[in-house]
Amino acid sequence: MKEKILVIGASGQIGSELILKLRASYGSDNVIASDIKIPDYEVMEGGPFELLDILNKQALANVLSKYKVNQIYLLAALLSATAEQHPEAAWKLNMDGLLNVLSLCKSNGIMKVFWPSSIAVFGPNTQKDNTPQNTIMDPDTVYGISKLAGERWCEYYSRKGGIDIRSVRYPGLISYKSSPGGGATDYAVHIFYEALKKKAYECFLREDTVLPMMYMPDAVVATIQLMEADSGSISVRSSYNISGMSFAPIDLAKEIEKHVGGFVCTYKPDERQALTKGWPNSIDDSVAKQDWGWKASYDLPHMTKDMFANLRFGKI
Ligand code: NAD
Ligand code: SER
Repeated sequence: MKEKILVIGASGQIGSELILKLRASYGSDNVIASDIKIPDYEVMEGGPFELLDILNKQALANVLSKYKVNQIYLLAALLSATAEQHPEAAWKLNMDGLLNVLSLCKSNGIMKVFWPSSIAVFGPNTQKDNTPQNTIMDPDTVYGISKLAGERWCEYYSRKGGIDIRSVRYPGLISYKSSPGGGATDYAVHIFYEALKKKAYECFLREDTVLPMMYMPDAVVATIQLMEADSGSISVRSSYNISGMSFAPIDLAKEIEKHVGGFVCTYKPDERQALTKGWPNSIDDSVAKQDWGWKASYDLPHMTKDMFANLRFGKI
């Protein structure tokens, strides 16, 4: 069957990169970008785009039938810091958006869905180092609670609704094409821009806050690799742990100093620090490795070098 793929939230940090890869693999006309925000030029001009609010179920139904969509990537969500400022709006978007998609998939016979979860599903009582696939999950942020509930809905609809839903728990993502959307790990993107502009950055997390992180090219590969894996090899229908690298702001600052002489990072933790309290230091992704062959390519030095190569090449 020919793929007709709808990406919801295509103007965001992940969508704006994922959609380019999907269009390269499946053909531009077969990958429809959608968002409430106009995307950048490359996404807008590279194939179909629909202005679509995921909370408008009828509008979503119309787009699904207009393009005869048979696969959906649902990326629209409020991330951790924004969600904490607007808890009810976050719950509505993160939950109702997902339920609108799942219920229309069920009624329209759409077979395949990608929906991302996050390391924010873990909480203060979760094992922090090498956090296992299955463990205590007691998130204490609105964002984490919505992602954990989303995972349960995905598993429910996979088992009972007959939809082939696939998901990963992304770590904090670092990229140079699009700005991050309001999370507690955004510092790891902002620091690069400020290093090049001012040789200085004031970080909103404490210098020793070790978190799982991933470079965007790895995140895009993981997403597409999981979606293209044999259905029989997928043993997890909630969401897979995936791991890239782990570092604290001070580790990143030291790495940046190697590329920007005289760079100075200072630390002034704000309310975003508390969001990370229950998040892991590092992730055990052995189940993803075993099931669908996942393996990250980028470590901290390799990612930092590539970020600067791209940013210096005229992206800022
Ligand atoms: P983002 O904030 O950059 O992009 C989200 C996009 O959704 C935005 O372009 C926004 O305009 C759009 N959107 C918002 N409300 C909408 C609505 N009502 N209808 C349609 N579109 C709407 O987020 P992102 O970083 O690209 O994240 C994508 C997904 O990955 C989210 O589910 C997020 O929770 C998850 N995730 C991201 C990270 C990360 O570090 N970026 C980490 C873990 C999980
Ligand atoms: N990077 C994300 C955030 O900070 C984690 O899901 O919200």
